[in-house]
Order: sequence, then C-alpha cells, then structure tokens
Amino acid sequence: MKISPDFVQEIKFRNKIDDVISSYVNLKRAGSNFVGLCPFHSEKTPSFTVFRNTETYHCFGCGAGGDVITFIMQAENLDYIGALEFLCNRVGMQMPEDDGKSETVKRSRFYDMNREAARFFNKSLYSDAPGAAEARKYVFETRGLPKSAVTHFGLGYAPDSFSALRDHMRSLGYRDEELAEGFLCGRSNKNGGYFDYFRGRVIFPIIDNIGNVIGFGGRAMGDAKPKYLNSSDTPVFKKSRNLYSLNFARTNCADGLILCEGYMDVIGVNLAGFSNAVATLGTALTEEQARIMAKYTKKVIIAYDSDGAGVNATKRAIPILSDAGLEVKVLHMEGAKDPDEYVRKFGRDKFRALINGSSGKLDFLLNSVLGKYDVNIAEDKIKAAEELCAIAADIYSDIEREVYIAKIADVMKIDTASVKNDTERIRRKKKYEAKENEKRKIVMATMGIGDTVNRDYAKYTKAAHAEESILGMLFMYPEYIEKIRNGSIELSQDDFVTEFDRRVFAALLERGSGGGFGMLADAFSPEEISRMSEMQVARQALSDNSEKVLKDTIDALREAAKNYSHNATDDLDAAMRIIQSKKTKK
Ligand code: GTP
Ligand code: MN
Repeated sequence: MKISPDFVQEIKFRNKIDDVISSYVNLKRAGSNFVGLCPFHSEKTPSFTVFRNTETYHCFGCGAGGDVITFIMQAENLDYIGALEFLCNRVGMQMPEDDGKSETVKRSRFYDMNREAARFFNKSLYSDAPGAAEARKYVFETRGLPKSAVTHFGLGYAPDSFSALRDHMRSLGYRDEELAEGFLCGRSNKNGGYFDYFRGRVIFPIIDNIGNVIGFGGRAMGDAKPKYLNSSDTPVFKKSRNLYSLNFARTNCADGLILCEGYMDVIGVNLAGFSNAVATLGTALTEEQARIMAKYTKKVIIAYDSDGAGVNATKRAIPILSDAGLEVKVLHMEGAKDPDEYVRKFGRDKFRALINGSSGKLDFLLNSVLGKYDVNIAEDKIKAAEELCAIAADIYSDIEREVYIAKIADVMKIDTASVKNDTERIRRKKKYEAKENEKRKIVMATMGIGDTVNRDYAKYTKAAHAEESILGMLFMYPEYIEKIRNGSIELSQDDFVTEFDRRVFAALLERGSGGGFGMLADAFSPEEISRMSEMQVARQALSDNSEKVLKDTIDALREAAKNYSHNATDDLDAAMRIIQSKKTKK
C-alpha cells in the first residue's frame, strides 16, 4: 500500500518519540536526550538513547536503532503497516483507505477468512460430516474435555474430506489462491488442484492478542502422522512471535505465566483453574516470545514434559527467559508425562500444589547436575562440582551467588571457601572472554568481516566509510538531498562503491529523508534500518556536518573508489585507523 509521506509525517508528529518509548522504557533525561535500559537486549547499564532533536533512538549496546515507527515494529512485533495502524490508533487517527487492495484491507480479509474457517471447524465437530462422530468421541471421551473448554478455546474438527472447507469458503466468496495463501488449502503438484490442508483432525485455532484468528493447529485422532499439523508462517502469522492462549493468559498473569509444550497442556492447566498458561506453537522457545512474555509478567514457570526431551528443552529455555529479565521457575512433575496428563491423573489440587512448590531455576539446574553424577565417586564429584561452580558463576546478583555457593558447598560437602574460589576463577575467565569477544566483534565490524548488512564493507573499507559518513549527513539534513536532486551538490548512485550503501542512497533520493527511517521500513529490514541509524548517530556525534564537509567526503569517496582497481591492501590500514579513532572517541 502506498502511504503518502505527508501522512507518515503527521503520524510521527502526533506520536512524539519520547512519549511513545516511555511507555516501554523507563527513560531518564541526559542533556537534551533520554537514556534507559534497552528493550531489545538485556543490559544492566543504560545504553539505549532517544534523541529528541532527530526523533530517533539508538542502542549503543546492541546497535538497534530507528525512529518511532521502527521502534513500534520491533517492540510490538508488527510490520510496517501494522506499526502505522498502531500509532494511528494511539492518537485517534484514521488510516487512509485506498481502492480495496491495500494491506490493511487484505489483512482484515485474511482475518475474516480465518474466523470463518474456525467457525466452520467448530460447527463441523457437532455435524454429521465424515469422521465427526469419531471426533466427538475423541474430544469429549478420550481427551475428556468438557464442552465449556471446547467453546472457550474455539476447538473444532476438520472433516475427513478433501473439499469440505474449500466448498464452504468458496460459497462465502473466498478464492482458492487466498485459501492457499492462508494455508487452509494446499495445491496438488500433479494437476494444480486445490484441496483442504487439514483433514480428519481436531482443530486448535491460534488467536492473537487482539482476538484475530491467525492460524491453526490440527491434531490427528489416530496414529496418523504428523501428530500435529500447524499452519505455516504467513505475512500475518509468525510462529516465533506468538504464543498459544496468550490472548487469555495475558490478562491474568501478574503472578506469572505457565509455559507449556503443547495445546493440550494449556487446556489441561486451564481446567485445573489456571488461565495464565501459554505454549509455543510447535517450535522451540524464541527470544521474541520471551520478550513478549516479559511485557506481561515478571515470572515464568516452565511446565514442559517430564521426559528427557522436556528436560533438555527446559535447560535451553532457562537462559532465554532469564535474558529477557524474567524470574524463572521450573515445575517438578512426577508420575505423568506432561501437565495435561498430570491434571487428569491427579486432579487440580495436586497440580496447584505443584505450581506452588515449583523450584527456582537454580535448584532445577542443581538437581539436573546431581542427577547426572554419582558423588560417591571422586571423579564424578569433581565434574559435578565444576559444573555447579560454572552455573554459580553466571549468577549476576552477588547475594544470590553467595547463597547458591553456600548451597553447593552444603550439598557437595565441600568447603565454602573452595567453592567460592573456583566460582570466582570461572567468573574472571568468563569476564575476560566476554571482553575479548567484544574486542574481536569491534574489529570484525569495523573491517566489515561478518558484516551481514553491508557485505562489501571489508573489501572497500575506505569507500564504505566515506559512504556511511555521507549517508549519515543526508539522514540528518534532508536539504542536502534536495541539493543533490537539483544538482547543486554533485553525487549520483554511480559514485557509490558498495551495493548496500548505493541502495540506501537510491531510496533516499527517491523518497527524501524527511519521513525518517520509518519511511524506509517497507523496503529495508530492521537490521538494515539499525545500520542507517548508526550512520546518523555517528555523524551526530561530530560537530561539523557542514556542506563543505559533505563535499569533501564525496571527494574522498571518489578518491577511494579510484584506487580499488589498483590494490586493496591499504584497506587493512584504514580499518586499523578507524578502530584506533573509535577507541580514542570513547
Ligand atoms: P497429545 O499427545 O495430544 O497430548 O499432545 P501433547 O501436547 O502431549 O503433544 P507433544 O508433547 O507430543 O507435543 C507438544 C507440542 O509440540 C504440540 O502441541 C505441537 O505444538 C507440537 N508437536 C507435536 N507433534 C508434532 C508434529 O508431529 N509436528 C509438529 N509440527 N508439531 C508437533
Ligand atoms: Mn506432551
């Protein structure tokens, strides 16, 4: 959809960046800017900065940056149009409508389509469609769900037919291509015909926080494979950014969220009286999901399956949740393979006791180490102690670490001072490694090695450096772009050496920089936008961004470009100089 620059400007004007961001980040004034803890990575000292004069933000820790639109894209997991809608709603503006082909219209049609499909599945459960009687038996008897739960979660049944849903949806005016795009229909490789994607399965609609049906999970009733079939990602459905039942859980999770593996676990936990349960959508927990949870609660209780796979998944989930700033507890379940089975076997009171008795993540890790070794064997004991000290070394809070060290000493029957010494040694080593890592990253970044945004950087360091300076100034002063357009400053795409910077320049020339980074968000990825914000921030830090400096830099770029046909070895020197200058700036 084409949104006019004027409209975007208006949205930005009415949504002041410090206003918007302060509802996500506790901002403190620092000169004319604001600083706070970055919402996009975990940090203890604030490196997230909001610049009021340019209406931009930049994190000096993780490099995230952009304007109010890209901030909302990142913070609310929305695409460009979604972020504009969000900001419009925030200040009571109306999104412009165009001729029915706009993203907004397309998106709401997609949601309507899914809602109709969910309705059809739910009705089919109670119909005489092929397999429906068996489905009722499975849902109400085999799985023992009460009708109220089926209604609450909107469960349904996809008839065992290749065209039941398709026929119904076509009668409502949905086209085959739309159905296929939403993964409600598949398309045959042989004859190109369309067919129902979900057949003979119990259906779990996946609903977002606003109440839109965004996808489906389908459980086979017998031993059909796969056991669960899920909608694939679409432009409006990203598994890595959604959680099953968060729409219900988020309003009642001040005390914590219960994180399960599967749909049925969430429903089981609900039946035990806890509506604050969510599940990942058939994939491993992602950082995005952890950040989303952290928006609604401070604590997560992991309630994964009790088998080996579940324990391993728990171990992987702990650091992801901790890094998002969440307190982590782990449910310790015995006698049942998962929460769903536990509730059905032992009842809701027992499950409630389990929740109350869930242990801290450290106890979980301690037990899982102790479970691996026989501490009566000296070698095993040493290995166990080493692993435990490594866990202790990762604890940030001095008090918590102290308490844990005492506990290790107690459990292992080792002198506290020894445990403490070893833990501190590991901490020093880790700190040193982290510092070295950081150093290496700076060198690599400066030389462009491992640079995924501008892949030509390493090859053309000098030129790329000049290009970034130029672009930084163009972002700061839209009038320079005007002058380039009317020829009073000479600069063209051909002057650019690296592909990425040329693309940025072309976009700026076409659209101007007046709309800010948000205007570019439909054509560039968040990483690319962050890079642009870095370019601008780097120039902001310098006092002289006059037209003369711009022209000199353009000359420097041309000079550098000329040399590339001859040799590229001086680039290493250039890189080292840049590293040096970065060091002295700090
Ligand atoms: P029930 O056997 O119905 O009780 O389900 P469960 O919740 O115990 O399932 P399980 O522990 O096997 O899996 C947990 C979650 O992983 C499910 O809810 C699905 O989201 C996902 N999952 C399980 N099996 C499959 C599969 O075959 N394919 C995909 N894509 N996801 C699966
Ligand atoms: Mn399970």
